[in-house]
Order: sequence, then structure tokens, then C-alpha cells
Amino acid sequence: MFKIAYFDNSGSDEKRLGWQISLTKRLGPVDLIPLESVHAQGCEYALVWHPPHGQLARLKNLKLIISMGQGVDHLFADKALPEWPYIVRLVDPDMSHALSQWAILAVLDHLRDGPFYRQAAESRQFRAIDQKQTKGLKLGVYGMGAIGKVIAERLHMLGFDVHGWSRGLRDFGPDITAHHGLAGCDEMLQSCMVHICVLPLTAETRHIYTARAFCLMPKGSYFINGGRGQQVVETDLLDAIQSGHLAGACLDVFETEPLPNTHPFWAERAITIWPHVAAQTNPDTSADQVATALQAVKKGNSPAHQVDRDKGY
Ligand code: GLV
Repeated sequence: MFKIAYFDNSGSDEKRLGWQISLTKRLGPVDLIPLESVHAQGCEYALVWHPPHGQLARLKNLKLIISMGQGVDHLFADKALPEWPYIVRLVDPDMSHALSQWAILAVLDHLRDGPFYRQAAESRQFRAIDQKQTKGLKLGVYGMGAIGKVIAERLHMLGFDVHGWSRGLRDFGPDITAHHGLAGCDEMLQSCMVHICVLPLTAETRHIYTARAFCLMPKGSYFINGGRGQQVVETDLLDAIQSGHLAGACLDVFETEPLPNTHPFWAERAITIWPHVAAQTNPDTSADQVATALQAVKKGNSPAHQVDRDKGY
């Protein structure tokens, strides 16, 4: 039987049960042992989301850490993270699908003036404004991994001129204009009217959206963040919106989560706030990957979708 040290900071029993059922279907009985309990100490496998710092280091037999989400910044934030186990992140097409739906919703809601019409409806105003001209509009997707590529391809199908940014030189096919490196990032900042961030959080991407970046964006641009809050200097974003340079933003992630209720973003009507729900982990669709990784490591093989510790994703 697989004995798996388990931790999920939501504390949801339902989610835990979801994993228990989905993994049992694929592997036979599995034991999900609370990470912080003494019984977890002999575990060779861990399935975790935002584990308390120092807890994974207690598991001396650990061979595999599976992040219960696509991001792994929650693991690298732990200075005591053990160096030897494999680290695997979820790469679930269902989550890419969900995140692309959210990103498309955010793009279209902005372009079709959703915030304006919702506010008008609140005061029962049946009032039209001129529709934005959107054909061939340039949109930029920052982070062209498993999720970014799906977002970019689907936005292209909606008739937009889609640009994609990656760290190193990559080819995204004929439909997406590729940019890379720091110069490529500036090119995209300067030419796109909608900016969609789905980057992983690393030392290189922390606070990349600064006053300088917002200033490079053309006046009237819109910023969408489905990556991580720590990539944005939040006061700079607020200044760029309040000065009228940016049209607004749609944010799913924040420097501090839950977003404190005194945070100035709540009062800014040009900012649409989502509580980190753009793509929620679904045990049912992710369990195949988790089960395959567990079986691979049990047989002494290396698992797929490993995280590169040097790159941080
Ligand atoms: C969610 O933010 C994830 O990383 O899966």
C-alpha cells in the first residue's frame, strides 16, 4: 500500500476524500497520512499544497514530493526543503482548460465592457457606450508553458493577434508571434493592449511588473494576472490604473492571500478581483498523473513532469 504524507492548507476534508477515492481507484488502497503526524515520518511520498515550512524535512525516507497544483513556489519558499527527493508538479490538461476559460473570460469581459455594464445595471441604467474595436487586437501571453500555450491558441481562434513570451527562444507555430528574453518582454509590453500573465513564480519573475513595465504598455492597456501576486508591484499597478494609463486589471492572485480586507484593490472599480480560483485542482483529473508518478518512483524510475530546481519551475 502507498503511504503518502498529505497536506493541503485549505484543510478541506472533501478534497482529501476526493484524492483518497481517485487514487484508490488507480492504485488500490492508499493511506493519506497527515504530514504533521508522527506516523508520516517513514513516508517515501508526499502530496502537498503549501506545507508548513520544515515539515517535509522531517521525512527522512522521502523520495517524491508531488505539488497538489501547477505552481511549486510554495515548496521553494521552504528554506528547509529537502534536496534529494524528486519534485513533480501537476500538468493537467483539465486545469489548462479551466485556466484558459478564465483568461478568455477576463479578456472578453474587458473588451466588451462587462465592468461598465454591470455598474450601470446596479443603478438600473439602460445605457450603451461605443463598442471597442477588437479585430486583430494584439494580446500578449507571458509564460508559454502547458497553460499559456492553450490560452494563446484559443485567443488566436477568437481572431486576436496573439503574442507569446518565454524565457528562452521557442517556436509556438505560425499562429503565435514568439518573443523571448528581456528584450522580447519589452517588445510585448510595448505592443500589446491586453497582457495576460501565467508565469511561474521564480527569482527572475518576482516583481517583474513594475512601474516601468506598466509605463511601457500602451495607454489604455489591460492587465490580467493568473500567475502569482508576487510578480506584481501592487502599488505600481494601482498607480498605473489611477493615473488613467491602464484601463484596469483582472486579478486572480495577490501578494498576500486572502487579499486583506483593507487592501486598496477592493475599492478600485477598474480592478476585477477573483479569489485564486482560475484553475482549481481536480483530484479526479489529476490522479492519473499522480498515480503514474508514484508507480514510477516505486519501481526506481524517474517520474515525468519533474521540476527543475535550478529554474524553480
Ligand atoms: C494554482 O495556483 C496552481 O499553481 O495550481
